[in-house]
Amino acid sequence: MQAFQYQDRELFVEDVPLAQIADTFGTPCYVYAESALTQAYSAYSNAFAGIDHLVCYALKANSNLAVIRHFASLGSGFDTVSIGEIRRVLAAGGEAGKIVFSGVGKSADEMRQALEIGIHCFNVESVNELERLNRVAGEAGKRAPISLRVNPNVDARTHPYISTGLKNNKFGIAYEQALDTYRRAAALPNLNVIGIDCHIGSQLTDATPLIDALDRLLVLVDQLGEAGIRLKHVDIGGGLGIRYDHETPPDVAAYAAAIKQRLAGRGLSLLLEPGRSLVGNAGVLLTRIEYLKQGDGKHFAIVDAAMNDLMRPSYYQAYHQIRPVTRRDDAAATYDVVGPVCESSDFLGKDRELAVQEGDLLAVMSAGAYGATMSSNYNTRPRGAELLVSGDSVRLVRARETFEQLIANEIGLLDGND
Ligand code: LLP
Repeated sequence: MQAFQYQDRELFVEDVPLAQIADTFGTPCYVYAESALTQAYSAYSNAFAGIDHLVCYALKANSNLAVIRHFASLGSGFDTVSIGEIRRVLAAGGEAGKIVFSGVGKSADEMRQALEIGIHCFNVESVNELERLNRVAGEAGKRAPISLRVNPNVDARTHPYISTGLKNNKFGIAYEQALDTYRRAAALPNLNVIGIDCHIGSQLTDATPLIDALDRLLVLVDQLGEAGIRLKHVDIGGGLGIRYDHETPPDVAAYAAAIKQRLAGRGLSLLLEPGRSLVGNAGVLLTRIEYLKQGDGKHFAIVDAAMNDLMRPSYYQAYHQIRPVTRRDDAAATYDVVGPVCESSDFLGKDRELAVQEGDLLAVMSAGAYGATMSSNYNTRPRGAELLVSGDSVRLVRARETFEQLIANEIGLLDGND
């Protein structure tokens, strides 16, 4: 995370001390480094240069409008999973024609709106969804561009909650049923079959399963060609992992080389749906220690961020490095870094060696992906601010929520509706 580095004892984001951001905007807050977003995006665009491709950033990882706008300015497309996400892309100035719409449960209303908006492609996940989309498109007098999300039945070898490409997962169309489903799709009058799609899981630290999945899709592409169904694109989803601790995720260039070799001479364009690898290491969660507490055999650093702000540690037992914003020479002790929420699973890190005192700031690293987007208001905790830093400029890109906002949808209804 080069965008986050110590200068002497102080942890900086780009050219700004994180302590200065905490003083100005309060904690907890998410801080993103624009240079890291650009760098991660460029790794993809450079690696895939020379072949017809579109990076569709999976905005479930971080859907802040300023982040979307930045990627749109770099030419990115977007992978979305709800009409809300599609509307975010448009609100941030992204192009409708570069949006793909994934997800197993698209409602008819979402389909209608997406058709009206004119998105690039629906990634369809079941036969019943095909039928519904055909009907909705017919009613709207449109033809819906589609790809089928095929479940290639490869093991992504990642956490079971974020592994999606095995046949017992709810996602996609079973590999064995794919040909028949394509035939069905091609026969439906209001659909335009343009692609094939898969996404096998997230935080993959080895690219082999991703390449295996592509190989399996290409077998289908050939069989479809023989059946007279010619596709324009193959979408290989997202999934490349990042370094949280000591992982060595595949480098985008090596991944790209393997893909380019397989697509050579096929006349297919490539879509990618990276999320985490574009934003994960571009963000930190900044938090302040409220109390140090000596339990029976355990030290706790109780901080002002909690599982509602960053759910990954409690939900997936995910590891995030935790660094002091100002380094001290004091002796370190081993702490569980925990939040104020009333759950034993409310921790951000366990058994961390830290030299800290009450009032110190901590940076929870690699929190740019699936951090703010998965946050909640549990325990009536307002979500924190989000800041985007570029060089020495700091922009507030999401204001801290207020108590009034939290109760707004209830307060007028206190005494019933009549
Ligand atoms: N495309 C589809 C259809 C997806 O479902 C996902 C992520 C992506 C692309 C982006 O995958 P990525 O490049 O970020 O791995 N909340 C979990 C991760 C859930 C991922 C869900 N799907 C976490 O915090 O680790």
